Amino acid sequence: MARSLLITQIGELVTNAPTGFAALNDAALVIEEDRVVWTGPSARAPAADTVVDAAGQAVLPGFVDSHAHLVFAGERSAEFAARMAGQQYAAGGIRSTVAATRAATDAELRAGLHRLVAEMVRQGTTTFECKSGYGLTVTDEGRSVALAAEVTPEVTYLGAHVVPPEFTGDVAAYVDLVCGRMLDACAPHSRWVDVFCERGAFGADEARAVLTAGRSRGLLPRIHANQLGLGPGVQLAAELGAASADHCTFLSSADLDALASSGTVATLLPGAEFGTRQPYPDARRLLSAGVAVALATDCNPGSSYTSSMPFCIALAVRDMRMTTAEAVWAATAGGARALRRTDVGYLTPGARADLIMLDAPSHAYLAYRPGVPQVRAVWQAGRRVDGR
Ligand code: NIG
Ligand code: FE
Repeated sequence: MARSLLITQIGELVTNAPTGFAALNDAALVIEEDRVVWTGPSARAPAADTVVDAAGQAVLPGFVDSHAHLVFAGERSAEFAARMAGQQYAAGGIRSTVAATRAATDAELRAGLHRLVAEMVRQGTTTFECKSGYGLTVTDEGRSVALAAEVTPEVTYLGAHVVPPEFTGDVAAYVDLVCGRMLDACAPHSRWVDVFCERGAFGADEARAVLTAGRSRGLLPRIHANQLGLGPGVQLAAELGAASADHCTFLSSADLDALASSGTVATLLPGAEFGTRQPYPDARRLLSAGVAVALATDCNPGSSYTSSMPFCIALAVRDMRMTTAEAVWAATAGGARALRRTDVGYLTPGARADLIMLDAPSHAYLAYRPGVPQVRAVWQAGRRVDGR
């Protein structure tokens, strides 16, 4: 018989539905092995081998962080400080992290990665994506995706992050490498292919070439689009049937139509707007147009050095016109949709038992009490993983 765990006296159990936020009050939930097998009123909860009393606190699906750059060395706090003193963000800063990453040993990169993963888990993230993109040689991209694959199945090959210095003036040759030998090295470890489609990085034709080459090797496309200005990235995402267009800070009405009709998720990354002092994307406009919205951290040492989904939820509610319920859905089920996952982001029978308990009675507290650590316990596939 499978061992069972009952969590009872849950003040608010966020279950989610594909159409949006859903929750039960005075609820209970039963886990067997790695799955949720029952949810319902506390008063009708079945017996189980182990019982946890939530004492009125909220239980939510673990956060699904569908956009993170976690394999890198070094840090860029001076660049951040300069930006806060008035300097503009430009894609070029990425190159300083590339130099530090190339110079690092595998052990150093792995240690940095594990530190960030532990940080994420403590803050309630139970599924996360991880990109390469700070190596930009065949060897360094290859080891980046291999390291990422040690910690998550959601590995993204981002050889087309920027053109590295040794290819300055010959973008075409670099794109050939990204679509050729570098892809050969990275495809076996990756599920996704991504490109930074932006002024200062890659244009529409180059981005299309990279995503199409990845797709021909079985990788699924996603894209960094419209972060620093209007551009072709969002339309390209729709054209190629990408799971997600990420950033979407600047959107034309044609971009909005393309997202709505293609079903491509708009993944919003408010940590990047915070860290670059840019205007926040208008989530309300996307939601009103019927576009599915996900929230993710974009955790990286340049534009958004946060691993905190609660922080992103708070920003989305305060500054992007999302309701607390919409923001929580976007940070859980929305992220799952952006990763084409149906087993996470929900707490309904059959879902993977990835869940968090708050030190608070409702999901709204995540935005209501910004900056306060409120994740009391984390279960991943039915196992307690917060070390408490
Ligand atoms: O998503 N936009 C491109 N990549 C990262 C920034 C990386 C960096 O500045 O190091 C982002 O914001
Ligand atoms: Fe990013």
